[in-house]
Amino acid sequence: MVQDTSVTIGAIELKSPLVCGAGEHLMYAEGVRLALAAGAAVVIPKSANESEAAKRQIDGTDYALLDSNWQWLPWDYAPPPDASLLCRSGLAQQSFDEWIEMLRGLDREAAQRDAYVAASLILADLDRCVEMARTVEQAGLRILELNIGAPHGGEATRGAIVLERDSTRVRDIVARVRAAVRIPIWVKLTGQSEDVAGLALAAKEAGADAVTIMGRFMAFVPDVETLAPMLGTNAGFGGAWALPLTCRWLVQCRRRLGPAFPLIGTNGARSGLDIARFLLSGATAVQVSSAVFTGGSAVVSRMIEEFSGYLDRKGVTASVLIGQAADRLQTYQDQPSRPGYWTEFVPKEALPPL
Ligand SMILES: Cc1cc2nc3c(=O)[nH]c(=O)nc-3n(C[C@H](O)[C@H](O)[C@H](O)COP(=O)(O)O)c2cc1C
Repeated sequence: MVQDTSVTIGAIELKSPLVCGAGEHLMYAEGVRLALAAGAAVVIPKSANESEAAKRQIDGTDYALLDSNWQWLPWDYAPPPDASLLCRSGLAQQSFDEWIEMLRGLDREAAQRDAYVAASLILADLDRCVEMARTVEQAGLRILELNIGAPHGGEATRGAIVLERDSTRVRDIVARVRAAVRIPIWVKLTGQSEDVAGLALAAKEAGADAVTIMGRFMAFVPDVETLAPMLGTNAGFGGAWALPLTCRWLVQCRRRLGPAFPLIGTNGARSGLDIARFLLSGATAVQVSSAVFTGGSAVVSRMIEEFSGYLDRKGVTASVLIGQAADRLQTYQDQPSRPGYWTEFVPKEALPPL
């Protein structure tokens, strides 16, 4: 039997959990239309804010795909699933008016496909962000994502991109935007915090409708041939390896915020089974960006097909998966004691003779 792939975030029903997260491939209408045509439930075009420096930052960007031995891979739109992406990035280069106009039209097109185009604002100045959020709502857009955790915050020109790690400020920021608009607000948070769940709780308490967990990490990758840093700088870094790290925070968020509060997983999803992994950890939806940026929009349809095949094989709907593994998490103390079992894993040469 074909199983139901739909999930619900607040008042919004999504035809599947697959959300295309913002990135360069979604800077223009062409890329957004491809993602919608491939079946994405939500597409989030490249984020905007008022900062000229944030716009200009993308002129100085660069990208490296690396294999699991940190060797460069060709940029051929068919990366192996374990490829990691190292890059700088920046924000949408259109004027805010052009950007809003583009999103307004695209969200209408999305509605014809039972999908959404969400507006993503990256915080710079809070007053300007609040004004922009109002404009997003007035333009008729149906979802606002507020990203206050972009990894490049520490490297960008001062004031161009705010990376918020303080729960009191998260609360204040979200409360200000919440007071200004009525459309659903999804708050995207950093993974570069000792307490991602604490930030998520602050966002929830300030009126967020969902939280997106979690932004990529910053990394430094030395190149053994040139003896220099790859790409010359620290840079945002993601890969399939990030999935379990994200899932751990999803589980903690589910515990702190309660199972009813919608979590959106991002950072590490590369396949349809990864959608299932995020849902099992407590996410209701999954934002996928690098896999589509580096593999093209066909990745979207492939992931949905694989996820749907998995649901059919397991005989469950998408919403039934949410939190199943998270709720079975055990502690170290729950584990049975098996004296000597550990020696089966150690090279025999490292053990004393019997
Ligand atoms: C090149 C690139 C550009 C990105 N640009 C944005 C952006 O403008 N706004 C945003 O909220 N997230 C942005 N992200 C973050 C992604 O939307 C996504 O949340 C993150 O990369 C983790 O998911 P992934 O493993 O599927 O890439 C960007 C990521 C990449 C790799």
